[in-house]
Amino acid sequence: MKQEWKLPSLKEAQKRTRREIVVERALFAIPQQARMLGAGRKYLIHTYGCQANERDSETIAGILDAMGYTACDQEEEADLILLNTCAIRKNAEDKVIGELGALKRLKRQNPDLIFAVCGCMAQEEDMVELMLKKYPQVDLIFGTHNIHRLPQLLMQAAMSHERTVEIFSREGEVIENLPVRRFGSHKAWVNIMYGCDKFCTYCIVPYTRGRERSRDMADILAEIRELKAQGYREVTLLGQNVNAYGKDRGGSGFAELLRESARTGIDRIRFTTSHPWDFTDEMIEAIASFDNIMPSIHLPVQSGSSEILKLMGRRYTREEYLTLFHKIRQRIPNCAVTTDIIVGFPNETEEQFAMTLSLVDECRFDGAFTFIYSPRQGTPAAAMADNVPIDVKNRRLQQLNDKIAFYAHARNEAYLGKTVRVLVDGPSKKNDQVFSGYSETNKLVNFTAGDVRPGDLVDVEITEIRSWSLNGRQIAAAQKD
Ligand code: SAH
Ligand code: SF4
Ligand code: F3S
Repeated sequence: MKQEWKLPSLKEAQKRTRREIVVERALFAIPQQARMLGAGRKYLIHTYGCQANERDSETIAGILDAMGYTACDQEEEADLILLNTCAIRKNAEDKVIGELGALKRLKRQNPDLIFAVCGCMAQEEDMVELMLKKYPQVDLIFGTHNIHRLPQLLMQAAMSHERTVEIFSREGEVIENLPVRRFGSHKAWVNIMYGCDKFCTYCIVPYTRGRERSRDMADILAEIRELKAQGYREVTLLGQNVNAYGKDRGGSGFAELLRESARTGIDRIRFTTSHPWDFTDEMIEAIASFDNIMPSIHLPVQSGSSEILKLMGRRYTREEYLTLFHKIRQRIPNCAVTTDIIVGFPNETEEQFAMTLSLVDECRFDGAFTFIYSPRQGTPAAAMADNVPIDVKNRRLQQLNDKIAFYAHARNEAYLGKTVRVLVDGPSKKNDQVFSGYSETNKLVNFTAGDVRPGDLVDVEITEIRSWSLNGRQIAAAQKD
């Protein structure tokens, strides 16, 4: 095995400071010898985790297409299988470990199959060690900072028939000019920044994704303009912490980026994820001022108890969160707000959990992703005793979910009899006479209509509500440019 790698080190990652590393902008290119490597070969990518991984898989697909590979959807047909993995909670890792075992048989059937693991698990010391020791079927492991090196790595793996591992802990680069194969035809992800510097005490992301680095605004705007020219209707600006955009380079910030993105004239702009700490009034103003910035904000709170928030390292109190929340709902009255909540953080008492429930009562969120705390090796919280019994965690999760569903339904009631504009995704999965899409406030809408196509913007009258969707019928002819 080629030893051109170093295990990722959580300790090293924790030491980084802003001043130490200069963000470099570098351009991607495929070496001449790698250009035809994929001719006659097929690939398949399994993507786990969040939108950052979805977007990375689009880049990986773009690189493979440029190397002559063709995509396929049957594992048995593939010459190259990539697992783009997630490490956020233990169950995310367990899924991948299960898949590694299940795919072993394919290697027996096709010894030339190249089996690659990338994404966030590939940045974790213990996971890389586990794969090296216990999963000889894995030929190639590469980290989230090494995607642009895929052509060289595949050449190495294919030619040497040796295991190839490359994981940089070095993380100062922003690579531009990467090819991309978009998986959607009218909605696209646009990275605005990589990494995270928040170091919430429970979270693995600052280690797996590295330090926060923002892309040049000119590169982002050029990507949005190109998408618009290609007929895309909606972009989602992506970052772990979009409100911190630009802070690493001291230039324009997220409010400016929002305004400039809106001025490209693309129909819809979304963004995720927001962190309360960096959310300024100027950003609220920008969202309120442009019709093409969608009134829908994902604003994770994690807990309603200031004591737990402090232990989580979230940098805001319950009161500060609520102040921001009410400011948003006041300035953008129709804004949908969703959140993330963790239950069973170390030492979370019944009273502290009750504070979370009362915060949900006050905010009446449009929806929430709720999680049971999962210790992640190397994070500060993992050193605290995971001391809330599992049955208590399960009960709290259930109680919280019931409340979240109650308010999701209550918030949706306001839509009954109203008309919403929907970006059509296509016929619904259950019934091809019914179409589905998302409203401006990011509500899933199922509706009956005449001749509509994916990417059309249509007006729908809401006739029935559910907790997680709205039903209705189209009332105006589709806009067809
Ligand atoms: N950058 C985003 C979220 C990234 S992870 C943010 O800060 O909001 C998505 C969600 O997973 C988090 O908001 C959190 O609620 C949850 N999460 C992260 N680490 C976790 C852990 N160790 N255990 C349980 N849930 C976790
Ligand atoms: Fe994780 Fe916190 Fe960064 Fe979100 S802001 S990715 S929860 S460290
Ligand atoms: Fe998972 Fe990595 Fe995203 S850990 S949630 S894929 S940033």
